[in-house]
Amino acid sequence: MPIYFDHNATTHLDARVLEAMMPYLSGPAANPSSLHRYGRLARDAIEAARVQVAQLVGAQPRDVIWTSGGTEANNYAIKGVMQAARGRVLYGATEHPAVMEAAESLRAGGCEVEAIPVDRRGIIEADALAAQLARAPTRLVSIMRANNETGVIQDLPALAAIVHAAGAWLHVDAVQAAGKLAVDMDQLGADLLTVSSHKIYGPKGIAALVVRSDVELEALQHGGAQERGRRGGTENVAAIAGFGRAAELAIEELDPRTQHYAQLIEQLDAGLRQIPEIVMFGDGVARLPNTRQFALSGYDGEALLMELDRKGIAVSSGSACASGSGEPSHVLLAMGFDPVTAKGAIRVSVGVVNTTDEVARFLHVLAEIAGTLRS
Ligand SMILES: Cc1ncc(COP(=O)(O)O)c(C=O)c1O
Repeated sequence: MPIYFDHNATTHLDARVLEAMMPYLSGPAANPSSLHRYGRLARDAIEAARVQVAQLVGAQPRDVIWTSGGTEANNYAIKGVMQAARGRVLYGATEHPAVMEAAESLRAGGCEVEAIPVDRRGIIEADALAAQLARAPTRLVSIMRANNETGVIQDLPALAAIVHAAGAWLHVDAVQAAGKLAVDMDQLGADLLTVSSHKIYGPKGIAALVVRSDVELEALQHGGAQERGRRGGTENVAAIAGFGRAAELAIEELDPRTQHYAQLIEQLDAGLRQIPEIVMFGDGVARLPNTRQFALSGYDGEALLMELDRKGIAVSSGSACASGSGEPSHVLLAMGFDPVTAKGAIRVSVGVVNTTDEVARFLHVLAEIAGTLRS
């Protein structure tokens, strides 16, 4: 049986989620904006899911805006706020490209755009952020809750206080955190927050941008009055219903899931420590319970990935989006690693289906590859 260790790239669809989607995939045609009974049933499904997704992130249901994915939600957060009022926007240097590139695209329109540096561990330091904010008035700061490659968790309540003291709004990309950590907008201090379905055993192509009512946001997609005019277009009812159910399960099963991940990662860490060539990224700081990124010194990450693939083990060589580009991970470069070490990176991200036998097999294969290297 192949071993899938790439859950930060995407997860399988939970059978219970598929069950929740089926009535809207195979039932009568219904546009949720239609006034007849079928339309009302579809509308009800969307509103029930809105409550479930709001609960996952400790928000008000009316603040949830459906989007086509985490990528659209991040673009909407950054461009929507910055188009409502031009100014300065800061983003963490290890953000997902959906944040980085969205922010960088605003330069052409006259916005001031700056990356916030991270230290060797991938952490944004509070004092450095405060000093950067003090240099000029800032409209928006975007900082992810947890990094998709390294799993490194930012100290968001503390950073949020600094952002707010400077009079800026905070957008939090919680795509990787949801389902693996408790996420609460109030506790994090987030004014806008992104969460995506396919990372929590829901369908692909559906996510949400959650926006507090006092945030001024320009709609990017104009059309009908859906989402209270904040995103026009007929909703993908089945996907939304699935996302809602996936969110509900992520809340109910957070403890058993994270305990399972932690057990597997403890076994992985212990095994990796036995391989002298391993360089661990984000070592010594709080990380997602399911994620480890490391390099096997002297080995190219993509070559290693392909070697593991031949042996039936699926991992990633950094972020899925960067894979295949041949470029070293911008996350590791931002952390100060040299391009050769960064190009050695592979990421293991475990999920609910993985077992201790699979971790043992992975460690065995990796040790074999390291042994071949040595010889
Ligand atoms: C941290 C983070 N943000 C945003 C995204 C993009 O989400 P989506 O795949 O739903 O567009 C990802 C996906 O890998 C991610 O890991």
